[in-house]
Amino acid sequence: MSEGEITIADLRAVPHFAADVADRVWRAWWKPKGAPLEHIADLVEESLGGGLMPAAFVAHRGPTFIGTASVIASDMEERPQFTPWVAAVWVDPPFRRQGIGGTIVGHAARAAFAAGSNTIYLCAVPAKRPFYQRLGWSLHEQGVGDHQLDVFALKAD
Ligand SMILES: CC(C)(COP(=O)(O)OP(=O)(O)OC[C@H]1O[C@@H](n2cnc3c(N)ncnc32)[C@H](O)[C@@H]1OP(=O)(O)O)[C@@H](O)C(=O)NCCC(=O)NCCS
Repeated sequence: MSEGEITIADLRAVPHFAADVADRVWRAWWKPKGAPLEHIADLVEESLGGGLMPAAFVAHRGPTFIGTASVIASDMEERPQFTPWVAAVWVDPPFRRQGIGGTIVGHAARAAFAAGSNTIYLCAVPAKRPFYQRLGWSLHEQGVGDHQLDVFALKAD
């Protein structure tokens, strides 16, 4: 196709997308809480460092940003004993419902297994339950924290 293929890359390989990752994550989860964009940009910068974690992944088609997911040590202050987590899963609206979100989550999950234990975690609003269950994640807990989130777990094969 003339538009080229969709690729999923570690942000370290495509650091010019760092501002897009920060922008989407900020708009989706931090702007509503009043957090400054710069704070998120700093967090995304950490994914450009040397370790396996934190890591961010980007789906893109050439220069076009499509979506992202991250692997982080901790995503829920109520569950500090769980690590690592797949977090900040986002696909730009025009690209949704084509399987890209599932592919990015799978990619991040493999990186999370490489970075940590043989169980990895993810938290989400209950509306996203079918999405993650279809990807093979098990509902581990419900109604956690102020936002009544689901916690999912996925075990290594
Ligand atoms: C959640 C999100 C990442 C999903 O991204 P996506 O690229 O649309 O994901 P997929 O295409 O892999 O799957 C989405 C749905 O489309 C369906 N789908 C996948 N390919 C499809 C196709 N070719 N035709 C029709 N439907 C399809 C999937 O079965 C899935 O259905 P489900 O939600 O009932 O399980 C995206 O909607 C998003 O960014 N939302 C806002 C941010 C957000 O809520 N993030 C999750 C935080 S926990």
